[in-house]
Amino acid sequence: VADPSKRPHSRKSPYTADRGMPGAYEGETVTRRALFTGGVVAAGGIATAAFTLPALGFALGPIFERTEARNWQDVGSVNDFNPLTYTSAVATIDPDVGEAGKTTVYIRKRDPNRDTAKELARFPYVAISTRCMHVGCPVRYAQASERFICPCHGGVYGFDGRVVGGPPVRPLDRFETKVENGRVFIGHRFSVNSKLEKFSPRDPSNHLDGLWQYLYPARPTT
Ligand code: FES
Repeated sequence: VADPSKRPHSRKSPYTADRGMPGAYEGETVTRRALFTGGVVAAGGIATAAFTLPALGFALGPIFERTEARNWQDVGSVNDFNPLTYTSAVATIDPDVGEAGKTTVYIRKRDPNRDTAKELARFPYVAISTRCMHVGCPVRYAQASERFICPCHGGVYGFDGRVVGGPPVRPLDRFETKVENGRVFIGHRFSVNSKLEKFSPRDPSNHLDGLWQYLYPARPTT
């Protein structure tokens, strides 16, 4: 076998010896340095993916969740509700789990003297979710004090569902409403920030004011 260092160099040859690379071995097509460099880069890539892929999945997953419109639900006649107090109605939020998929919703007619927020102008009735925005216990409306009270950790919400005390981080969620043929219907649940501006539905304990609104993914199915 001819000494590889004596052979004329050819840049096109697949062999490191023919290309005149330092430390070349006969029959070798890649140098050990290139092999180890490639191995380290690949191992780094795998380690990085192990951290970033789950985070990406968490951030982007909700985009691919079911978001089609749920059927509007008839919750009663327009005469069943008034602007002075909330009337409870039962709504189905998950039809696949029977009774466990039902929830209480507090509904009242819009009151032009109290409801000044923009979103209220879009919906003729106010339908407030009973899921506490601390960690999700069911709240109860007390007409005497015009407050929604959470029994779990003392969360208190005012007449419009905004937090007035305790640990909840944002106002109670709401449902879209519409009136047809004298009947009141509720549609999608949505979340609101402290100015009652409408957002896609979020989980309890997710803040929605300022930059916080970008830090939590929307959760259309919850
Ligand atoms: S779950 Fe309502 S205050 Fe904690």
